[in-house]
Amino acid sequence: MSQEANKKAAAEAAIEYVKTGMTIGVGTGSTANFFIDALAGVKDRIEGAVASSEETSRRLREHEVPVLDLDHAGDLPLYIDGADEATRNLALIKGGGGALTREKIIAAASRQFVCIADQSKLVDSLGEFPLPVEVIPFARAYVARQLSGLGGRAVPRGDFTTDNGNLILDVHGLDIADPVALEGAIDHIAGVVSNGLFARRAADVLLLGTDSGVRVFEAGD
Ligand code: 5RP
Repeated sequence: MSQEANKKAAAEAAIEYVKTGMTIGVGTGSTANFFIDALAGVKDRIEGAVASSEETSRRLREHEVPVLDLDHAGDLPLYIDGADEATRNLALIKGGGGALTREKIIAAASRQFVCIADQSKLVDSLGEFPLPVEVIPFARAYVARQLSGLGGRAVPRGDFTTDNGNLILDVHGLDIADPVALEGAIDHIAGVVSNGLFARRAADVLLLGTDSGVRVFEAGD
């Protein structure tokens, strides 16, 4: 099976978690897009969706899924989103699409976070994928120096502005032996808005599309 087919299978498996009357959080990226396409088939039984990016809002609206803002929706029962890397402990790197800050807010506001990904995203330890860090433009060089002090090499993502008007630094070469500690350390650098480690609030379920079907990993497995 192709990578795209595995993404689609994981995304379609997540529909089972969507219950009648829910307002759900929806992430960003190609796997999340497959989920949105599948969600269109059950849109009449949900209240609406909170989008983690402008791109996702647009796609939801194209499918006539009501888009609500988080202030209005309050805490959410469910969040569905992809990842760039995932461990068996369900810690993630996210932000390849640059939507990490809103993704992290929605994950924090959601009771259950179901991550959908193809088998290429499963890793033994995080960090081969460069860690995205959203940074206020004024602080770019300062934050890059601090990240260098943590052992990383920060590369500004060219020609890219986040939905919040900020920059992304993609950080190569970090040693992510302790994702929870590193997530906190990076968040404490002045000028950092958020970083793509989802370890303090990891996923609750990982649906992994593989060549032999969708594998389910749950917290505590
Ligand atoms: C966007 C993300 C995405 O979930 C991540 O980049 C995975 O993308 P894809 O599903 O296209 O492989 O974090 O900010």
